[in-house]
Amino acid sequence: MPRPVPVIRPRRLRQSAAMRSLVREHTLRPADLVLPMFVREGDEPRPISSMPGVQQHTLDTLVAAAAEAVERGVGGLMLFGVPEHKDALGSGATDPDGILNRGIARLRAELGDDTLIMADLCLDEFTDHGHCGVLDAAGRVDNDATLDRYAEMAIAQAEAGAHLLGPSGMMDGQIAVIREALDGAGHHDVALYAYTAKYASAFYGPFREAVDSSLQGDRRTYQQDPGNAREALRELELDVAEGADLVMVKPGLPYLDVLAEVAAASPVPVGAYQISGEYAMVEAAAANGWIDRDRAILESLLAFRRAGATTVLTYWASEVAGWFQEGLPEHLREHL
Ligand code: PBG
Repeated sequence: MPRPVPVIRPRRLRQSAAMRSLVREHTLRPADLVLPMFVREGDEPRPISSMPGVQQHTLDTLVAAAAEAVERGVGGLMLFGVPEHKDALGSGATDPDGILNRGIARLRAELGDDTLIMADLCLDEFTDHGHCGVLDAAGRVDNDATLDRYAEMAIAQAEAGAHLLGPSGMMDGQIAVIREALDGAGHHDVALYAYTAKYASAFYGPFREAVDSSLQGDRRTYQQDPGNAREALRELELDVAEGADLVMVKPGLPYLDVLAEVAAASPVPVGAYQISGEYAMVEAAAANGWIDRDRAILESLLAFRRAGATTVLTYWASEVAGWFQEGLPEHLREHL
């Protein structure tokens, strides 16, 4: 039997950089990337050891780093607050002088109206027990009491100048309650970037250090079970019905299947959050010389685009946007 000669040769389209570029379906732009940032009280920025290269900013270093990211063309900034004092209700979240609200106001004042400023809308950074909501007498997260806090927090963030709010607490009904609160206060233009499918994930590990959280217990009674995909579509339907303007899937790489399903079903733009643990894994492997860091970063970001994400939140947003300006070596440029 003569060996069959392939007539159809997919390699033809892979033979040169020019050919690969011609047929590439997905690419990255700086404007696709959103940079999550942390702001703390006090005069000294603090490095986050489990996220090399990421820090808890002071208000001043926050503005400087944000301005640099914006100058490089990132699509927006997502701000998290790290308050000095935490309590059971997360009082700092709704205080106009709380660190997150001050950070929003500073960014808005210094970066002008064209830079999209987003804020994490959740209580876990502000509560002493580390949960995303307030607790009932039995120590469980009280859904509806938490909604009242979220409504207040939304108004504080809108008044501080945020353009988009990112409710990330996975409380039932949170989008409807927040939308109604915003509209009632005249903030019709403030958009909601809903954390729609958010899983109870081990990959949030470094984030606990990032926001000085001492979480008691876990988040499994409100964040989704890693074994489930279907409920992501239910959460999508609810968030869209309640008024979400954009929806997000989180974490990123371990949930690309969910991202693809949500992207296929969603009538609104879909984002992905490449979270702290995903960042830490690549940085740790790269520090050991086990992985080509820059290629791994671009490949992972491209994976989100391929799976259907319009925007990607990533701690590498500013650095990667900078690569576009500098011009990359050929083997990296191919990804852009
Ligand atoms: C909740 C929130 C978390 C993250 C973003 N928003 C933590 C959690 O839900 O446990 C995680 C982000 C990351 O790990 O990079 N405020």
